[in-house]
Amino acid sequence: MMSPELVLLMFVCLQSARFCRAAPDVQTLNLKVEYGESAILPCNGSAYLGEEGSIHWETSMGEEVAHLQIGEHIGGESSKVQVELPSEEQLRRGDWSLLLRHTMLRDSGTYQCIWEGQRQGIVSTVWLSVTEPPTERQLTSYEGETVMLNCFLLISRSQTLSSLQTWWTRNGETVLSTEPEADLPLDSLYRFKVPFGTLEEFHLSISPTLLYDNGEYRCWYRTGDFESPRPGLPDRIRLTVLEKVSTATAAVTDDWLSSSNSPTVFLNKEWTESTTSSPDVIPVFLEDSTQPPKGGSWMLLSHA
Ligand SMILES: *[C@@H]1O[C@H](CO)[C@@H](O)[C@H](O)[C@H]1NC(C)=O
Repeated sequence: MMSPELVLLMFVCLQSARFCRAAPDVQTLNLKVEYGESAILPCNGSAYLGEEGSIHWETSMGEEVAHLQIGEHIGGESSKVQVELPSEEQLRRGDWSLLLRHTMLRDSGTYQCIWEGQRQGIVSTVWLSVTEPPTERQLTSYEGETVMLNCFLLISRSQTLSSLQTWWTRNGETVLSTEPEADLPLDSLYRFKVPFGTLEEFHLSISPTLLYDNGEYRCWYRTGDFESPRPGLPDRIRLTVLEKVSTATAAVTDDWLSSSNSPTVFLNKEWTESTTSSPDVIPVFLEDSTQPPKGGSWMLLSHA
């Protein structure tokens, strides 16, 4: 006949093995965060309080994220800029959690907090999943405005970044590139920019937009000359640039923008967009050398 106490203990053991095992359990956590948010990777080392040793935080690929030291000397260091280590006070309490700031898609994966001392063992395992940022596949702008085409690159941790190449195409034609020798439409150098962002952000800012910016944009990347190009996220964006509402002066400006200001692009590339001005303005423009310079595009032409 079992005592009520023993029955109760067995019941507790079945419900939660934690209370009935000599070795500390591995803490596990499934963690989901939005792109750009912070994430706490928890590791409770209270079972090792009073012992001396070190803690390795590493990914399932064996990459060390942080290294903490417990004992007479207490402290730590991390291999990543956006990792914040626990304070000395936290370390003393056995809180070995890491704070991952500004998570990126490539931070998704498995992290393990491993204790190395007299005893050895995995203290906690965290499956981190960073959800994809929202993206837009359709954008509309009035000419003259600024638009931002957001694109994210999914570069895995195993890929080397030293030879990362990125570029944007419009209707299949390169309009912006990180390669210095890329052959680009001249005016895109002045109106198309990539704002500073994280490693995974390759957004395209167009300012001001012109009618012939209409088209399908795609951002691309590859991590080596022999790799085939991969599209980013989203894999394509449709940009529609609308004509400004016509007033008397706006009409003059529009006319100027869509004809004499555009040959810098048409000179370099065959143009397929039929809704904007036609290429036959080029000879007229070029031959009329008596025409006074009108803004930036004339300067460009004389250099070309
Ligand atoms: C760690 O675990 C112990 C025992 O389960 C608990 O008392 C303590 O509050 C935990 N510490 C943290 C920081 O969660």
